[in-house]
Amino acid sequence: MQVVKTIPDIGALRQELDGSVGFVPTMGYLHEGHLALAKQARIENCAVIASIYVNPTQFGPGEDIGVYPRDLNRDLELLRGERVDIVFIPSDDEMYPPEFSSWVDVEKVTGRLEGASRPGHFRGVTTVVAKLFNIVQPLRAYFGQKDIQQAVVIKRMVADLNMGVEIVVVPTVRESDGLAMSSRNIYLSPGERQASAILFQALTLARQLWQDGEKKTDKIRWQMTSLIQKEPLAQIDYISIADAETLEELQFIDRPALVFLAVKIGKTRLIDNISLEQVCHMPLRGSS
Ligand code: PAJ
Repeated sequence: MQVVKTIPDIGALRQELDGSVGFVPTMGYLHEGHLALAKQARIENCAVIASIYVNPTQFGPGEDIGVYPRDLNRDLELLRGERVDIVFIPSDDEMYPPEFSSWVDVEKVTGRLEGASRPGHFRGVTTVVAKLFNIVQPLRAYFGQKDIQQAVVIKRMVADLNMGVEIVVVPTVRESDGLAMSSRNIYLSPGERQASAILFQALTLARQLWQDGEKKTDKIRWQMTSLIQKEPLAQIDYISIADAETLEELQFIDRPALVFLAVKIGKTRLIDNISLEQVCHMPLRGSS
């Protein structure tokens, strides 16, 4: 595995690769969720490139960039274990030199949910991902269902700007109690960690209600709210049931939908989502 820090160095290595390149962009402090992306990229491509870069432009004022967890040596060990070929770890100067002045801004799908709660966040994400795509020139890039709005925004950017990168969305990897793995889970105290299972419980409640025939989103939201309110450490930022493509809020679930949650557990803000997929019921052989 080669570890490179500069754009000319990765450009030179990239030129030597022929065949499909799968790309896994990350901010490091890797866990099984990130590694699931690397595993899938490994299966589907001739070469795999990962990046580790805590991108300052996607953090708002007062957000956690200064304390964002980092452990580069452990990350490199984990990526080596997944047989990643190249890891790109640029510095801030490499990515944003003093004269930097171009931004990528995706409209509409960035207006709600994380976009509304974290102004400027997606502008930072799309700008850095566009730069990384230009530098790495992958055939495919891998993103987690965990941050599904991010994947939807990136898909929009790729389509609108004709970037020609296939975006692959990988299912959310969860702890045994359902908590979605996240680098931010490290901030949770033991009590908060226990309390945070409430997010997945609320999402599975939503799915259950929908499977039982409830189509009115205000009823589902109300039940999720009362469940979460029973957890004293939890404070709801938003609950949303939205069109899976446009991310527009739905009143009735009459098309593929996603249930989104952002909840503060103590000081740590956690996000998660679940998709409401049509389940096919096969009639049992011999039953009437
Ligand atoms: P980061 O938070 O490090 O996440 C990197 C990728 O891992 C994202 O695509 C994210 O959705 C995915 N991921 C995180 N937790 C996951 C889980 N439990 N299961 C499956 N996938 C998971 O997202 C970013 O970094 C940045 O915004 C980035 C795209 C790198 C741009 O800076």
